[in-house]
Amino acid sequence: MKKKLFLFFSLAAIAVLLFSCTHDVALPEDPVDTGEPCDSTIVYFANDVLPIFEAHCAFSGCHDAQTSEEGVQLDTYVNIVTTGEVKPFKPGSSEVYEQIVENEMPPSPYEPLTADQKSIIEKWILQGAKNLTCTSSGTCDTTNVTYSGNITAILSNSCLSCHGASVYPDAGGGVNLSNYDAVKVVASDGRLYGSVNHDPDFIAMPLGLSQLPNCQIKQIKAWIDAGAPNN
Ligand code: HEC
Repeated sequence: MKKKLFLFFSLAAIAVLLFSCTHDVALPEDPVDTGEPCDSTIVYFANDVLPIFEAHCAFSGCHDAQTSEEGVQLDTYVNIVTTGEVKPFKPGSSEVYEQIVENEMPPSPYEPLTADQKSIIEKWILQGAKNLTCTSSGTCDTTNVTYSGNITAILSNSCLSCHGASVYPDAGGGVNLSNYDAVKVVASDGRLYGSVNHDPDFIAMPLGLSQLPNCQIKQIKAWIDAGAPNN
């Protein structure tokens, strides 16, 4: 019985942390290229979401950098997620989505978003509001993988909500992925690749969420195989 109670409280604590601290981390400014051919079931921010905001919201007099109506600036990934108060996985608690569906943003005389466009934004948030891009050719570049260019972007998209500097002791089970030295530790002892590759000897990551796109796993492996350099 005690064990069950403990489990219950641990899970509750993880849930609270997961949903309270998602923006306590550096958001990726550049989209991560999945390196896979574009998959019609995935919403890619750069390909699918940003063009909607650019065409319908981020113009003069509304939500561009100059006007920034109500402090909401909808011109880049970071600005959309922060000033639009996007809560990953929770469209109903995301301010920008609420405004779109409930207050009919953009307001007249501008054209409202179509049902399709609303559903793309909803799906993007439901899938974790990540900053992804894909190329139709889908070539996975594993030749020049760098810590600063590739690895940090993957981690900040998919891992730092639990393994960030201020949250990792509790939300991330003590595994810190917020700086090079700490990442190097789990890269070298096999846990980083084992966990993202879902090897049975490791705990599958990202915890409770779907596996990283194949290309990102290959890029992590290529970087580790190269000695996990600080490049
Ligand atoms: C929802 C929160 C959450 C997310 C997101 C998450 N982790 Fe974890 N991670 C945890 C927790 C909690 C543990 C400790 C689990 C335990 O010890 O039972 C852990 C453990 C680990 C470990 C140690 C695994 C082992 O077998 O010892 C590694 C490595 C790791 N995470 C890497 C990652 C990477 C890389 C990502 C992103 C691709 C990620 N995590 C995303 C919560 C998370």
